[in-house]
Amino acid sequence: TQHAQRQRVLDTLRLSHEQLLEVKRRMGEEMCKGLAKGTHSSASVKMLPTFVRSTPDGTERGDFLALDLGGTNFRVLLVKVRSGKRTVEMHNKIYTIPQEIMHGTGDELFDHIVHCIADFLEYMGMKGGHLPLGFTFSFPCEQKKLDQGILLKWTKGFKATGCEGEDVVQLLKEAIHRQEEFDLDVVALVNDTVGTMMTCGYEDPECEVGLIVGTGTNACYMEEMPNVELVAGEEGRMCINMEWGAFGDNGELDDICTEFDRAVDNSSANPGRQRYEKMISGMYLGEIVRNILLDFTAKGLLFRGKLSERLKTHGIFETRFLSQIESDRLALRQVRSILQHLGLTSSTCDDSILVKEVCSVVACRAAQLCGAGLAAVVDKIRQNRNIPRLRITVGVDGTLYKLHPHFSSIMRETLRDLAPECDVTLVQSEDGSGKGAALITAVACRIRDAGQ
Ligand code: BG6
Ligand code: GLC
Repeated sequence: TQHAQRQRVLDTLRLSHEQLLEVKRRMGEEMCKGLAKGTHSSASVKMLPTFVRSTPDGTERGDFLALDLGGTNFRVLLVKVRSGKRTVEMHNKIYTIPQEIMHGTGDELFDHIVHCIADFLEYMGMKGGHLPLGFTFSFPCEQKKLDQGILLKWTKGFKATGCEGEDVVQLLKEAIHRQEEFDLDVVALVNDTVGTMMTCGYEDPECEVGLIVGTGTNACYMEEMPNVELVAGEEGRMCINMEWGAFGDNGELDDICTEFDRAVDNSSANPGRQRYEKMISGMYLGEIVRNILLDFTAKGLLFRGKLSERLKTHGIFETRFLSQIESDRLALRQVRSILQHLGLTSSTCDDSILVKEVCSVVACRAAQLCGAGLAAVVDKIRQNRNIPRLRITVGVDGTLYKLHPHFSSIMRETLRDLAPECDVTLVQSEDGSGKGAALITAVACRIRDAGQ
């Protein structure tokens, strides 16, 4: 029957407990490979040292600028940190990065960023000020110190030329000098996961993991220095930017990848890369759904077998539609109106039910895969500390996590299932990673000033 035919396809996207446990195990293995000197270069999960050595302790203070680039919005912020009360005052402005700049040259991209900073300083009436700056740059960067970072590879559809292999702090500084209008003191380069962990860590000292499920997905956590073989020193801990989106790039996910995942990967800006990210994050889930719908329609199982031009269009299924379609309060009539909005006008009531089911299977798999990865992280922390039970907080940000009605509950369930010895509290970040970047900048300035 048609029903059985559809379910056979959807079953390839349903993961068993054993499969998820295996994902957790392989992630744990890749983490160790990425940390170890001998195997680091061949590991898919790069485990990048961040040179952030502690979570905030409440004594940070001062006024800081922050940039936040790489998610849905590009922001420039002014963050005023007051010691003692653990409160900050934030002012920010959102700027757009036009497509042609994302796909232009690096100089154009950084000139645009500097232009936005200049506009912000003007707007705040602070031109000529000389504040320390924390730069949240949500892409994989190899750091040798806090205020430097070589962009390894663009991810998430960015592709400005001349940036890969370059120090992005240097690119920013050069763009500032080109403008000759103001000077900036770039103190810290921070991944959004790290910024998020710090933002949440300001209120909760048990927050030692940062997780992003938005346009892309990634995690960071505090690792014991002896395990961080790429950095000298045995004392204390360092935050590791895992870049877990690249998990699977050495074939670790091949046995659970479907033809739809391969189609999404093939038509992306970076085929063969970020395979785990492409099964989880907002930039790709809608594309997986669209590819399944295309397949069903071609087989005559949906939309009366009529392939519309709309459905053939890359990117029509934005993540927010997925979140809307799955909202429990939504009547099927409204699912239909979303489909109509997408130009899929000939849908019947049965079509709506099926589309909703496809969305829910794809999102469920994403949340479970993400939970399996997180289970590997918290279990590693527990084993590092050699304790039978671990209590830990994870700071989370990202539009998919925040807007999707079921993502967080499914992820929690997977975590309980796969890491039963860890009591994990997931805290949603409300302030973005710019605040965390400012706190990191504050600590670095305090240490720098003390050394002078
Ligand atoms: C925000 C951070 O809070 O979360 C961004 O400030 C980050 O820097 C983002 O990239 C992730 O979410 P999204 O959905 O915008 O990619
Ligand atoms: C991508 C980036 C990573 C970032 C994540 C979430 O995976 O490579 O650096 O943290 O997206 O924004």
